[in-house]
Order: sequence, then C-alpha cells, then structure tokens
Amino acid sequence: MARTTIGIVLNGVTGRMGYRQHLVRSLLAIREQGGLPLRDGTRLWPEPVLVGRSEAKLREIAERHGLTEWTTDLTAALARPDVQIYFDSQVTAQREKALRLAIEAGKHIYTEKPTAEDLSGAVELARLADAAGIKHGVVQDKLFLPGLRKLDRLVKGGFFGRILSIRGEFGYWVFEGDWQPAQRPSWNYRAADGGGIVVDMFPHWHYVLEQIFGQVSAVTAHATTHIPTRWDEAGEPYDATADDAAYGIFEINRPGQATPIVAQINSSWGVRVYRDELVEFQVDGTEGSAVAGLRNCRIQHRATTPKPVWNPDLPATEDFRSQWQVVPDNEEFDNGFKAQWELFLRHVVEDQPYTWDLWAGARGVQLAELGLRSARDGVRIEIPELSGEPTR
Ligand SMILES: NC(=O)c1ccc[n+]([C@@H]2O[C@H](COP(=O)([O-])OP(=O)(O)OC[C@H]3O[C@@H](n4cnc5c(N)ncnc54)[C@H](O)[C@@H]3O)[C@@H](O)[C@H]2O)c1
Repeated sequence: MARTTIGIVLNGVTGRMGYRQHLVRSLLAIREQGGLPLRDGTRLWPEPVLVGRSEAKLREIAERHGLTEWTTDLTAALARPDVQIYFDSQVTAQREKALRLAIEAGKHIYTEKPTAEDLSGAVELARLADAAGIKHGVVQDKLFLPGLRKLDRLVKGGFFGRILSIRGEFGYWVFEGDWQPAQRPSWNYRAADGGGIVVDMFPHWHYVLEQIFGQVSAVTAHATTHIPTRWDEAGEPYDATADDAAYGIFEINRPGQATPIVAQINSSWGVRVYRDELVEFQVDGTEGSAVAGLRNCRIQHRATTPKPVWNPDLPATEDFRSQWQVVPDNEEFDNGFKAQWELFLRHVVEDQPYTWDLWAGARGVQLAELGLRSARDGVRIEIPELSGEPTR
C-alpha cells in the first residue's frame, strides 16, 4: 500500500512522557500497525527525528528501536525539509523557547502541557502560531481515557439531568527520595525549574472540565507544600520550593443550566490511595450520579438510589459500593496518547478539525496562573476570556 512519510522532531524523548507515551506507545505503535490509514487509502508513516541534550542517550534509544535519525542540534533538526512537525515533551521551563524556534521554522506544533510557564508566554505562542499559519495541538490525554470517555458519553446522553457538582480526587504518595527513590523527577518539586502541582495538574483539570462540562468561569484554590525537603536523583537533599498539594474549587457555566456546576478537585502528591484509581471524579446530577476513573465508570440512577438515614448508633446497613452499576465499554479504547496523536496527524495531513490547540493550552495555563494567585491572595477569581483568541 502506498505510504507517505512525515518527519517529526521529538524533543524530550529521553524523559518519562517523551519516551514511553509519545515515542513507544504512540508513534512506534502507529508504525507497528503499518502506519496511519488515511482517507485516500494510503498510509502515513511517522519518521521520528530524536532531539535531546545527550548524544549517548539518543543513540541508545534510536538503536533500541531501529531508528536512524537523532541529533543534539535542534536548529539543524528544524531546518530539515523532511520534517513537518515539532513535538515537545521537555521539562516545562524549556518549552516556550523551543516552540518559538519551531514556529519560526514554519513547522506544525504538537506539545505537552503546560505550553508555557506563564499566561503571557502561552498566549503569545498561540498568537505566533496562528500568524505563521501553522497547525498546532496540545496533549490533552485524559480526555481519551476510557473512564472519561464513558463519563463524556453519559453527559452527552443526558444521563445526569441538571449537573450539580463534581468531586475529583487525584494523587498518590510520591516518595521523598531518601529511604526509597522518588517515582517522579525532582524538578517537579522546585518552583524555579517549573515544578508544582498547580502548574502540572490545573491544565489537565481545565480541559477535562471545559470539554466535558462547560466553560470554567471562576477558581478558588489553596496550594501548599506539605513535604518541604526531598532527595533528588543523585540522593542529595533539596528544598522542595514548589506546591505539592492543591485544593481547588472551580465554577463551570454549562450551556442550558441556570446555575454553575461546582467542581471541587483535590490534587496531591502527599496522599495515600484508598480509591479504585489514581484519579476519580464523582459527578452528581438530579437524575443520576457517576464515578469515573482512568478506566472505569460506575453509575447510580435516581430510581436505584437508596435512602440512607443518619444513625451513628447503628452499623451501616447498606453496602453502598455494591449499589452502583458498571458502564460498559461498548467500544475499543486505544492508548489515549496514541489516539490523540492520530487525530493530530489527520489534522495536519487531511485538515481534519482539531480543537485541542495552543489556545486551549493557554486557557489551561491561565487556570494554573489564576489558581496560584487565588491561593496566594486568599480570594476567588473570575476567569476572563483570553485577549486575542479568535472566535470559533
Ligand atoms: N500529559 C501528561 O499526562 C503528562 C504527565 C507528566 C508530565 N507531563 C509533561 O511532560 C513534560 C515532561 O515531563 P516528564 O515527567 O516526562 O519529565 P522528565 O524529567 O522525565 O523528562 C524531561 C525531558 O526534558 C529534557 N530536558 C531538556 N532540557 C532540560 C533541562 N534543562 N533540565 C532537565 N531536563 C531537560 C530531559 O532530558 C528529558 O528528556 C512536562 O512539561 C510535564 O508537564 C505531561
């Protein structure tokens, strides 16, 4: 079958996300299935050009996967005429300047979130990308997870009636790094290096809330650093200067609903898991409720809702968890990162619609920035529209 090759610079490919999710589970997985089938019957063959700081690490990854293109020279990679897309999964603090270079080089942009360290940088990137006439996309992987796909299906199907509230619980214990190595990189815990749970997770919560429920209109947040000292990759102690827990309240305007939905989401790297999944959202509506995680989704309809009566003198008489029903998959779910890569590639080569762009990424950065301001000043903040964003 005829196939067209598309060169893709992958910068940050030695990192956790770059290697596992984007290279192996997405682009190499697309190659393993023979390329991406296109509408015209041909196939699109991604050709990664690995970019990073360590020649040895890049060579090792390239050789492990039978790849031939790698370099430590980003400018040279961006000058290649066979490269059409620049992808960035570097540490957050390095992202903005690399994306600017790629836009200047006329390449399409696909990038991890957050797109920049602050809102002005994120908006400027979106503006520059539009002005350059390139296509752009931002990773919003949670939307493509089975649990959230099923939740989205429930919302679209009108299952909930009027949606009242959302309670999200995200987090797990991230080891300090002294007596057991930490399972996340140390830069995540240093503010100067772009770390912090608000900057990391609020962009995710923004697109989840906006895409599934409606426009996020206000934020009230409390952010804190529960663990002030951690140990880095070399076993050295360091001051954890970034927030490692955030307790946020988000108000959401849902079209057709007079009152906002209240979403309350806890994000913490200092909690131990007594849940079924590492993130779970409970949605309560007048007609029914759901609990969705990464993979699973359970519901309780109004008609099957028990009537508990508060009586602390008696042991619980109901097995509440057993009263929920499992939402069936009804479709096959691919890896979420791969599913979104395929949509972006189709956007680039077939001009298919794609809404998860640098403007959407900037709205996520905006929520993080205003969330931090809310926490610092102890106030509720209404979220203004982004200046310069084109109307859709
Ligand atoms: N979509 C998601 O679910 C998700 C999850 C985790 C992280 N992320 C995002 O992906 C990005 C990478 O996160 P990660 O967890 O893979 O980090 P990581 O530390 O594992 O990888 C970072 C990469 O950036 C490179 N890098 C470039 N310049 C660097 C510098 N000056 N210092 C250190 N490393 C440098 C590293 O070599 C490495 O390839 C972050 O922006 C993060 O917000 C997204």
